[in-house]
Amino acid sequence: MDLLEQYIESHTSPEDELLVELDRETHQRVIQPRMISGRVQGRFLELLVRMLRPRTVLEIGTFTGYSALSMAAGLEEGAVLHTVEIDDEMEPIFRPFFERSPHGDKICVHIGSALDIVPQLGMKFDLVFVDGDKREYPAYYRMLMGDDSGCPSVHSGSVILADNVLWYGKVVEELPRTDRFTQAILDFNRMVADDPRVEQVILTIRDGLNLIRVK
Ligand SMILES: C[S@@+](CC[C@H](N)C(=O)[O-])C[C@H]1O[C@@H](n2cnc3c(N)ncnc32)[C@H](O)[C@@H]1O
Repeated sequence: MDLLEQYIESHTSPEDELLVELDRETHQRVIQPRMISGRVQGRFLELLVRMLRPRTVLEIGTFTGYSALSMAAGLEEGAVLHTVEIDDEMEPIFRPFFERSPHGDKICVHIGSALDIVPQLGMKFDLVFVDGDKREYPAYYRMLMGDDSGCPSVHSGSVILADNVLWYGKVVEELPRTDRFTQAILDFNRMVADDPRVEQVILTIRDGLNLIRVK
C-alpha cells in the first residue's frame, strides 16, 4: 500500500471487528483476495446506503461478503439487500459471517448468474452495486436498464454504483487485442457516459467507482 493510501485508511472510520476477521479469512482462503472491497470502500458503501436510505439494494458479486455486510450495516430496518454470487464455493465463507452479523438478516443470498437471477426477481432496486465479472459489465447495464427485455430493474432516482471502472489504470493504457476485461470496462464506461437517461461521475476511490443516477 502506498503512503497516500495508508493516510486515507488511517483517516477513515475503523473497520468493524467482524469485517477485520472476514478480511483476514479472505486472505487465507481465497486465491484472489484483492477483489475484496476493504476498509475505505466498505465505509463508503455503508455511508452511501445510510445517506440514500434505499429500501431495496442489489449487489452483483458477493465474493466473501465484505461489501454486502458493509451495505447491510447502513440499511434501515425492513430494507433488504439482495446479493447474487455465481460461485457456490464462496457460500461456506460468507454464510457464517452473515449469521454472526447483527445485520445479516437484512441480506438475501442468491447463488447463480445475476444475468439469470435478476430478471427472475422482477424487482426494482433503489441502489445497485455492480461488482461481478468485468467482461459482463455492459450486459449487466443493459439488463438493469431493461434494454433487451423492456423490464428495467431500476427506476427514476435509482443509483447504480459500478466498481473497478479504472481497472488498475489499464483504461488509459494501450490495449492488447486479447484483453477482453479492459475492453468491456471501456465499453461500459463509454455506454454510460453516452446514455442520456443517466447522469454520472467516476470517483477515484480504490480502483474507481462509476456513480450513476437514473434521471
Ligand atoms: C470483485 S468480486 C466481488 C467483491 C465483493 N463485492 C466485495 O467487495 O467484497 C466479483 C465476484 O463476482 C462473482 N461473479 C462473476 N460473475 C458473476 C455473475 N454473472 N453473477 C453473479 N456473480 C458473479 C465472482 O464469482 C466474484 O466472487
